[in-house]
Amino acid sequence: MGLYLRAHALTVAQAGRCSTTALIWSLVGCLLLLNLFSIVRHKGKGGEFQLLASHHPQFRELQQVEEENIQIPPPRGKRSPRAAKRRPKRTTTLIDEFLNEDSQLRHIFFPSQKSVIDPSKDAGNDSYYYYPGRIWLDTDGNPIQAHGGGILYDELSRTYYWYGEYKDGPTYLAQKNGLARVDIIGVGCYSSKDLWTWKNEGIVLAAQETNETHDLHKSNVLERPKVIYNEKTGKYVMWMHIDDANYTKASVGVAISDNPDGPFDYLGSQRPHGYESRDMTIFKDEDGVAYLIYSSEDNSELHIGPLTEDYLNVTSVMRRILVGQRREAPALFKHRGTYYMITSGCTGWAPNEALAHAAESIFGPWETVGNPCIGGNKVFQQTTFFAQSTFVLPLPGLPGSFIFMADRWNPADLRNSRYVWLPLIVAGPADQPLEFSFGFPSWSRVSIYWHRKWRISKVE
Ligand SMILES: *[C@@H]1O[C@H](CO)[C@@H](O)[C@H](O)[C@H]1NC(C)=O
Ligand SMILES: *[C@@H]1O[C@H](CO)[C@@H](O)[C@H](O)[C@H]1NC(C)=O
Ligand SMILES: *[C@@H]1O[C@H](CO)[C@@H](O)[C@H](O)[C@H]1NC(C)=O
Ligand SMILES: *[C@@H]1O[C@H](CO)[C@@H](O)[C@H](O)[C@H]1NC(C)=O
Repeated sequence: MGLYLRAHALTVAQAGRCSTTALIWSLVGCLLLLNLFSIVRHKGKGGEFQLLASHHPQFRELQQVEEENIQIPPPRGKRSPRAAKRRPKRTTTLIDEFLNEDSQLRHIFFPSQKSVIDPSKDAGNDSYYYYPGRIWLDTDGNPIQAHGGGILYDELSRTYYWYGEYKDGPTYLAQKNGLARVDIIGVGCYSSKDLWTWKNEGIVLAAQETNETHDLHKSNVLERPKVIYNEKTGKYVMWMHIDDANYTKASVGVAISDNPDGPFDYLGSQRPHGYESRDMTIFKDEDGVAYLIYSSEDNSELHIGPLTEDYLNVTSVMRRILVGQRREAPALFKHRGTYYMITSGCTGWAPNEALAHAAESIFGPWETVGNPCIGGNKVFQQTTFFAQSTFVLPLPGLPGSFIFMADRWNPADLRNSRYVWLPLIVAGPADQPLEFSFGFPSWSRVSIYWHRKWRISKVE
C-alpha cells in the first residue's frame, strides 16, 4: 500500500515539469557510463563474448530509452463557478486515469481490438515485433489467455510452452467491496517455436465444476501457474497458488503430466513448511535443484526452499528473505552465477513500483538493488509500466538479455488484462548504495527498458 500511495502522490503535472531534455541527456550519459563500466568489468572477468554481446546492435536497440508524454485531458462537463469554489480542484494522476474505466485515456493502457498483435499477418517479417499492452492473438485468431504465467523451454521438442491463468469468463466482485475475480476456468497452455506465434494447446488443468470441496472448484482461486521439467522422472511439474475466494486458504498446489501440453493431474495442495503461501514462483537452477519462492506471513516476507528431487514437494529447508519488505509477484532468474529477482508491492490489481534484488546464494542475503524500470515517464517507472511482474525468460542468443513478462491487470474485465513484455538487461553497476559494504560483491544493474514497440530477430 505504501508504494501505491507514494506513486499516487506524484501528480502528472509534477512529472511533466521535469525537463524531458535534461532527462534524456542524463539517461544518455548514464548509458554511456554503464557501457564503459561493462567493458571494464567484463574485461576484468575475461568475458570476451559478453563484451561483444553488449555491443551487439540489437543489444543497443533494446536499451534505447523511449519517453512517454501523456497529457491528461480536462475533466468532461462544465463545472459551475460556485462548485469550483466549493471544492478545491483535484489533480488527477495517470494512475487515477488507469483505474478509471471511463477515462478518455483508456486506449493508451488498453488499446482497442483494432490494434492487435496478429502474427499471422506479419509472417513475412525478419523480426518479431512486440507491442506491450496490445491484445495478442494466437494462431486461431483468439486473444491469448495466459495471465500471471510463465514459460517453459522444452529441450526435447525445442518448443516454448507458455502457461497462465485462462480468465475468459465474467469478472465480478467476490463480496461487496471485495476484490474483482473470475471463476477458475483452468490453466491455459500455448506453444511456440519463436516466442511470438502461439498455438493454443487448450486448458491443460481444468476447473472442477461440481465438486465444491475440491481445490479447483470454480469458486476458488488458481493463480500464477509455473511448469518445470524433471529430468530424473521425465515428468512436467506444475506449481500454482491455490486459495479460496477470500484468500484465507493461502496454499500451494502441484500437478503433474507426462507431456508439456498436458493434461496435468492435480495432486493436491499444502501450506509449504506450514506457512501461508500466496503469490509464488518456482525456479530450476543449473544443477537441476528446483526451488519454491512464496509470499508469506501476511505477504510481509518471502520464503524460499528447495523442492524434493521429484519436484512434487518441498523439503524441510526454508529461508525467510526480504523480511518486512512486503513484496509479491516474484520472478527469479540467474545470470553469470548471480541470482536476480523482480518483485512488486502488494496493492491488489493496482500497479505499483517494481524492485530488483540480487544474491550470490539463492538463500540470500538478498539485497535490493533498486527500481529496474527505465524510460516511459516517472509514473510509468513507478507503476512497472502499469503492470506486475510474473516471469523473466532468457532471450535466446543474447547473454545478459531477458524478456521481462508482466501483467497489466484490467480489474473491470480481467479476461481483457494485457501482457507487457519488455527487454530486461543485466549490465553496468547497480545505482543503489549497498546495504552491506565490505566483502560483498557490487551487483550489476538490472534494467527494464520501456518500448512502445520493440523486436527480436527470428529465433530459428
Ligand atoms: C512487419 O512489421 C511491420 C511493423 O510492425 C508491419 O507494419 C508489417 O505489416 C509487418 N509485416 C510485413 C509482412 O512486413
Ligand atoms: C471431491 O474432491 C475431494 C478433494 O479432492 C475428494 O476427496 C472427493 O473424493 C471428491 N468427490 C467427488 C464426488 O469426486
Ligand atoms: C470466506 O469465503 C467463504 C465462501 O467462499 C465464506 O463462507 C467464509 O465465511 C469466508 N471467510 C471469511 C473469513 O471471510
Ligand atoms: C511433503 O513433505 C512433508 C515434510 O516435508 C510431509 O509432511 C508431507 O507428507 C509431504 N507431502 C507429500 C504429498 O508427500
